[in-house]
Amino acid sequence: MNRSLKEIKTPSLILELGRVRSNAARIKNVAHSNKTRLRPHIKTHKCIQVARIQTEGFDGAITVSTLAEARAFAANGFSDITYAVPIEPGKFSTASEIFRSGVKLNLLTDDLATAKALDEAAGTAGTPFDVFVKIDCGTHRVGVEPDSEMAIMIPRFISDAKNINFAGILTHAGHSYDAKTVEEIKAVARHERDVMVEHAAKLRGMGIEVPTVSIGSTPTMNHIDHLEGIDEIRPGNYIFFDNFQATLGSCSFEDTALTVLSAVIHRDITHRKIVIDAGGIAMSKDRGPVGLDPTCGYGRVLDLEGNDTGMRLTSLSQEHGVITDEDDGWLNKLKVGDRLRILANHSCMTAAQHTHYNVLENGEIVDRWEIHRGW
Ligand SMILES: Cc1ncc(COP(=O)(O)O)c(C=O)c1O
Repeated sequence: MNRSLKEIKTPSLILELGRVRSNAARIKNVAHSNKTRLRPHIKTHKCIQVARIQTEGFDGAITVSTLAEARAFAANGFSDITYAVPIEPGKFSTASEIFRSGVKLNLLTDDLATAKALDEAAGTAGTPFDVFVKIDCGTHRVGVEPDSEMAIMIPRFISDAKNINFAGILTHAGHSYDAKTVEEIKAVARHERDVMVEHAAKLRGMGIEVPTVSIGSTPTMNHIDHLEGIDEIRPGNYIFFDNFQATLGSCSFEDTALTVLSAVIHRDITHRKIVIDAGGIAMSKDRGPVGLDPTCGYGRVLDLEGNDTGMRLTSLSQEHGVITDEDDGWLNKLKVGDRLRILANHSCMTAAQHTHYNVLENGEIVDRWEIHRGW
């Protein structure tokens, strides 16, 4: 039975289905018009139903950030999964178990010793993984620098290995989140693509076959001019977007699909503050676009219909969220028990705090979708 936003428990996640569908369509269009495959990163939502919307019309390939996600999605019919965090030996046996359940589980490394150990383990387990080499296109988080010796040695080793296959090269332009303008995002997007296309050409020139060149973040894939030479894209956050992406210019605020429903638990006219039941555990403490908007706090405060009240979630403790109302307008209107919605700074981090989504369509909660958390 459908329920209203006044009937469900707080704090909880509200997912606007219409926006999820249009965000999915937007990136499908980028993939279709550039003739690339789409392998969305499902770490943003960790939800089977959302992944089905994202992959509908494509081959069902997905990217995950934990082996728990890989296991859960494999159990729900997803059979081509890239685990896009560098593998380490402590996870070989779990990865093998998932592979043996009938899933094409693709792995990632930037470490020659690990590639060698994986080749050996795959030989023993009978699990011929496809393995990507992670290239650092400027984020400097993980990956090998494209002009380093290792950017050739590791692909060569995997290509020649007996028990694993070279899947290709993969990068993620995480530094697109540090951009201050859309022009800067566009420059990072071109660089992400060009570095990878050039590196693939270099490897091919040395006789190393490169089956797949894989790139993609939400800011870069929303602003890329063309994808010549790229085989697949892996954006993730775009399916929900959030306060960070809208402030950065990847989308508009009307595209953001995820909010946290919360209730007022205290009001204090003297100190001009409203306290809600969405604290750090319900929101995450991600500072989001603080570099672009120093007043962003921990999220934008919306009314029940989703309109921006102009207030921000200014501080958080575990179960309390404090909103400061400078002009008293809302403070006078609200009472304990009234409800507000918070547009989070970083939807991936916020979603990962919860067990399920309340799916909103035409102003009513029409469904409950599970979130598959864990490692
Ligand atoms: C390896 C990898 N691929 C793809 C993504 C998706 O990026 P975004 O959430 O910016 O779309 C991420 C995000 O962290 C990632 O780490």
